[in-house]
Amino acid sequence: METVSNDAGADGLPESAYQRARERLELHRYHWLITGVAGFIGSHLLEALLELGQQVTGMDNFLTGHAHNLEQVRDGVGPQAWQRFRFLQADIRDAPACQEACAQVDFVLHQAALGSVQRSIEQPSLCNEINVGGFLNMLVAAREAGVRRLVYAASSATYGDHAALPKVEHVIGNPLSPYAVSKYADELYAGVCARCYGQQSIGLRYFNVYGPRQDPAGAYAAVIPQWIAAMLACRPALINGDGETSRDFCYVGNVVQANLLAALAERPEAVNQVYNVAANARTSLNELHALLVELIAERCPDLQVPAPRHQAFRAGDVRHSHADIAKAARLLGYRPTHDLRRGLRQALRWYLLRQPAAA
Ligand SMILES: NC(=O)c1ccc[n+]([C@@H]2O[C@H](COP(=O)([O-])OP(=O)(O)OC[C@H]3O[C@@H](n4cnc5c(N)ncnc54)[C@H](O)[C@@H]3O)[C@@H](O)[C@H]2O)c1
Repeated sequence: METVSNDAGADGLPESAYQRARERLELHRYHWLITGVAGFIGSHLLEALLELGQQVTGMDNFLTGHAHNLEQVRDGVGPQAWQRFRFLQADIRDAPACQEACAQVDFVLHQAALGSVQRSIEQPSLCNEINVGGFLNMLVAAREAGVRRLVYAASSATYGDHAALPKVEHVIGNPLSPYAVSKYADELYAGVCARCYGQQSIGLRYFNVYGPRQDPAGAYAAVIPQWIAAMLACRPALINGDGETSRDFCYVGNVVQANLLAALAERPEAVNQVYNVAANARTSLNELHALLVELIAERCPDLQVPAPRHQAFRAGDVRHSHADIAKAARLLGYRPTHDLRRGLRQALRWYLLRQPAAA
């Protein structure tokens, strides 16, 4: 992985761009808008910003987010920090609500979306309304309100059927789902707004994010929370296909880092770009399963985790995914702090706290 230059602090010790960004935030209170704040990633962004003394407005319609995510953040940061948070229960498809949410805001971290590939195949119109129409509402509202920069959740799904590995930002294939189309359309709209209005934005193509608070329930749950829930309940994990499908699993703390770096990046060439946000490691589903079994055995030696069960491949799923993160390292100073083992340990701790019977 590439590292950033001018990396030494005043005391000569290595100082990361993330450390510098956090120090800048500790000295200056900005006003942030997080859309999708009651979701998995949005709630982590909220927690990090409140802990750094920032003022935050959050917007969510609870389509897939939960009040209990916000309650956990409130309990974690304490009542004083919580006073710097204002919540708007509103829909990004509602343009006036987006305008209201953007008032007096310095930075928007746009996370709200219909986030599931499978659900987008079943409900393509809904996906388009939220992920494209809602996104455009936010872009327009942010520009009209004079927001400095909008950082938005793009997706690795944009690489579609392009086979080359690792994925580099400027080489993409054909989209494999309505979700992939919607996320690519967002990048195109952000680019057009930069060219037409000089609006600043940065797209972050997240690769399979996981961590505490990721919802294990429902038909559209992501693989890691779904498997952890199954394993802790002594049910077999379901593997789609032969298990050799691979992903670049990214801990949510790395995603928080990328968002803050993107919002605060000062180099002009870093702005109006898209970046891969991942751990820069490829793990097959079979390897992931084995690692989870090992980590669960560390914490719960008496638990008998059953062998996985294989089922058919799923439509719309790409076979392999692995990110080149050199661009984010070079232009943003992004350096993931959590590899898969470390990130899974953190996630597992959280799921175990919620399943005391298994702990
Ligand atoms: N989790 C991943 O692996 C991953 C990977 C790539 C991209 N992303 C993107 O990251 C973002 C956050 O994903 P997440 O994993 O936290 O999902 P999530 O479902 O937990 O969070 C999305 C949030 O957006 C809210 N929302 C949905 N539609 C809305 C609307 N119309 N108006 C207002 N709020 C609305 C939901 O209620 C939810 O709280 C999404 O844009 C998603 O597409 C996630």
